[in-house]
Amino acid sequence: MASDLSHPVFARFFTWFSQKMEPEIGPYRSKLVAGLSGRILEVGAGNGMNFAHYGKDVTEVVALEPEAYMREKATDSAARVAPKITIVDGSATALPFEDDSFDHVVACMVLCSIDDPEAALQEARRVLKPGGQLSFFEHVRAEGQAKAKVQELLDDSRIWPWVAGGCHCSRDTVASIEAAGFQVTQVSDEAIGVNWGHTNPHVLGCASPHTSA
Ligand SMILES: C[S@@+](CC[C@H](N)C(=O)[O-])C[C@H]1O[C@@H](n2cnc3c(N)ncnc32)[C@H](O)[C@@H]1O
Repeated sequence: MASDLSHPVFARFFTWFSQKMEPEIGPYRSKLVAGLSGRILEVGAGNGMNFAHYGKDVTEVVALEPEAYMREKATDSAARVAPKITIVDGSATALPFEDDSFDHVVACMVLCSIDDPEAALQEARRVLKPGGQLSFFEHVRAEGQAKAKVQELLDDSRIWPWVAGGCHCSRDTVASIEAAGFQVTQVSDEAIGVNWGHTNPHVLGCASPHTSA
């Protein structure tokens, strides 16, 4: 299914900014995909900054990206790396893939931006093979009430989503992952850039679908 998401200004800014931030964010990207193997679905792959981090046990990466400029840049990135990478247009909320078709789903700084993250997580669960895992690296709602309130104001006023291509900074993404029928098997809190910034903390981890869910 083709998507109509268009954030031309943000897409160009993010492409520049993600490259500038690679010395700092790259090690987290490496940790996110470390040890993954087989057929991977990366949702909202952006301009493809994770591609160079996939290891030799990855046989194929299917990179879903709904934004046209991002997709173009992801295609350029895919041409520069070893693993086989297929770029696909579409939304994480309605994945154009069969049930049980991927060994891992990777979500990197994307559950903040997807309009319906709950639907995306249900879809991730649907396409994972039995025994498959969701790997995530996301910025999330702060634990402190004052900062969480600021994050909520930025989201509810639509200021932050407008500035940042639909991003939200107050989402409790680990709770959403659990509510979608995953068991979080590993998670760590990380801070990127300015610790007190509204897009911290980050969480890095993985989750497995509950077999009974
Ligand atoms: C902040 S960027 C992160 C890009 C990339 N994952 C990375 O780590 O650099 C957020 C991405 O989510 C994508 N996105 C937004 N809504 C989406 C949706 N419904 N399905 C899939 N991707 C989506 C955007 O187009 C954008 O590429």
